[in-house]
Amino acid sequence: MRELAALDIAATAVAGGVAFGGSWEGCYRANLGSRIASRILWRVAEFDYRNEQDLYSAARAIDWPRYFRVERTLRVNVTAQKSPLKSLEFATLRVKDAVCDRFRDALGKRPSIDRANPDLRVHAFLESSRATLYLDTSGEPLFKRGWRAGAAEAPLRENLAAGIVMLTGWKPEEALLDPMCGGGTLLVEAAAMARGRAPGAKRRFAFEKLAAFDTGLWERVKQEPRGSEHAPAVYGSDTEPKALNAARRNLAEAGVERWVKLERADLLERTAPAPSGVMVMNPPYGERMGSPEELARFYPRLGDALKQRFAGWRCCIFTADLRLPKLIRLEPARRTPLWNGALECRLYEFEIVAGSHRRPK
Ligand SMILES: C[S@@+](CC[C@H](N)C(=O)[O-])C[C@H]1O[C@@H](n2cnc3c(N)ncnc32)[C@H](O)[C@@H]1O
Repeated sequence: MRELAALDIAATAVAGGVAFGGSWEGCYRANLGSRIASRILWRVAEFDYRNEQDLYSAARAIDWPRYFRVERTLRVNVTAQKSPLKSLEFATLRVKDAVCDRFRDALGKRPSIDRANPDLRVHAFLESSRATLYLDTSGEPLFKRGWRAGAAEAPLRENLAAGIVMLTGWKPEEALLDPMCGGGTLLVEAAAMARGRAPGAKRRFAFEKLAAFDTGLWERVKQEPRGSEHAPAVYGSDTEPKALNAARRNLAEAGVERWVKLERADLLERTAPAPSGVMVMNPPYGERMGSPEELARFYPRLGDALKQRFAGWRCCIFTADLRLPKLIRLEPARRTPLWNGALECRLYEFEIVAGSHRRPK
């Protein structure tokens, strides 16, 4: 909500997201400027239902040809929470049939379905007795910014990375270091934020395919000033040359390489690039990169490295490994629960103060 407020959009919290009303201008601005949203959905109908026939009837009652041309390709997604329906697949088919039948009634032809790369998506969200239909104004999810060129292992989603940077409370005047930067997602998002780069500037949106699309308004929204441009001091390091190459390519593609210094270094040995700042990272976790035993040996050494070389820094560690605060032997100043897909995670924040080498009793 705070992010939308900064875009001049008043929103309210709802289950699983936030809701806002208003003009297309707000919709274009949110799609272009939100760093943490996954998609912006336009609610076109809400109704009670008990079975698939109710879904079909309500979806067919909507004047779909008013919203988009029959030449647009389509995909329908159904998600549910406590829905009495047995098969979501069948529910999806009924909604798809309803949209197509409505077109056929009106125009004698129907839109084609394209599950892989549709022009437009209809989302149905089913609760126990209430259904809501949405037209997706984003298209590809908003974390796809169009800058990811280099492949590294286990990259964070761009909108999660942006949310993590926001939660650290980093200000562009402070130094920022990701000492386990992998493909550089946190670095790109932090630098783009500080430079006032619109996260959606390099991509297209589904709203451009809707009948109501207003090219002039969209051009105006794209030209709007995006806040002040800072000259941030952002640093990244990793032990793997392959990860650093991917980070370099991503930073260049995002147009922020000028603001980020990369180097090959082991976090357990490297020094701080500035007397104080914000460290943010997500260490390896899981089968592929760090076994529980390896990590249990790594965390105490990480705690020692932070205490010895990062006094004056605020260190924020994002992980699904809930053993971390105990094993790192530092008391977190804050722990924020977050989800990485279905994986429950925490963002732990440690204030590293000179001389405080012991966990307080
Ligand atoms: C989960 S990945 C980070 C992914 C990154 N946040 C992204 O979005 O692309 C963890 C990274 O830590 C690096 N790493 C592991 N041990 C390290 C160490 N001791 N010092 C520096 N980097 C290390 C790995 O090479 C890997 O790239």
